[in-house]
Amino acid sequence: MNEFISLDPSELSQPSLHHYLLSAVAPRPICLASTISSSGDINLSPFSFFNVFSSNPPIMIFSPARSGRDNSTKDTLDNVAEIREVVINIVNYAIVEQMSLSSTAYEKGINEFEKAGFTSVESTIVTPPRVGEAPVSFECVVDNIVPLGTGPGAGNLVIAKVVMIHVNSKYLDQDRRLDTTQLDLVGRMGGVWYNRCSKEALFAIPKPNSQLGIGIDGLPGFIQQMNYFSGNELARLGNVHVLPNIEDEIRINNNGIIHGNREAKKNEILLIARQLISENEPNKALSLLMKNEAIFSTSQEDQ
Ligand SMILES: Cc1cc2nc3c(=O)[nH]c(=O)nc-3n(C[C@H](O)[C@H](O)[C@H](O)COP(=O)(O)O)c2cc1C
Repeated sequence: MNEFISLDPSELSQPSLHHYLLSAVAPRPICLASTISSSGDINLSPFSFFNVFSSNPPIMIFSPARSGRDNSTKDTLDNVAEIREVVINIVNYAIVEQMSLSSTAYEKGINEFEKAGFTSVESTIVTPPRVGEAPVSFECVVDNIVPLGTGPGAGNLVIAKVVMIHVNSKYLDQDRRLDTTQLDLVGRMGGVWYNRCSKEALFAIPKPNSQLGIGIDGLPGFIQQMNYFSGNELARLGNVHVLPNIEDEIRINNNGIIHGNREAKKNEILLIARQLISENEPNKALSLLMKNEAIFSTSQEDQ
């Protein structure tokens, strides 16, 4: 039995609430926001309260929060209130340490491009420069700034519309599309933790059946109840449009014959079904299981 603790946010200290929120809502993408003040000071800071929220119009939102310590506002927020422009630079593993260094609370007027050793590249449309080392940069105009509160830790949504996109061509595939396996993006977890989306760490999930899967509850009862397959495996099985015709021929091993006693046969069938699921062959896995349903029914001798 799983046990849960239940927490009322109004009874947690601000640091504790911050911990639960940020450790659970993770990994979060990281943007390096480049802004400029009305007196021309350039600022660069990372934000993981960040995402894209619309592609038509192309909208990104990030949130420079009020300091949890002294309730002060961040230079980034002050800057976008003055000059309503920002360049959102995407962070990958190659620049993750420089990104972290740029989060240092340097005094107003200190240029974090220089502190963190980034190349400042002139933007095409907006005034703040972009980060030359970023795999992708989005020049944006600020549509709206929405304060979410006035106390320590209160976020401020900076709603930014993308007006120009710069992509380092080394991350493009032959169709000029971004190659996820090459981008090596990083995400922010709770505390000091990050994650790295290297090629080895990625996996693909076949898109849900466009013809509507039967669902786990549509699988034959003996499969739902056998307590063998994980939720992920059952979901792949439940993604089939219709249950397979069990008369279809299915090769279950080299010679098509499963040897051994009933228990050994059962285990072999389950192992093969699991293998077929992992190879994204749910129909074959289902027809193998359904063909052998009798072997899974609990009989007198099993008890
Ligand atoms: C990976 C990472 C993500 C961060 N995300 C946020 C965030 O979403 N909101 C925020 O207020 N501060 C965030 N910070 C902290 C700010 O980057 C830090 O307060 C920075 O000094 C703000 O700089 P500024 O005052 O020059 O704008 C993050 C820091 C790191 C290292």
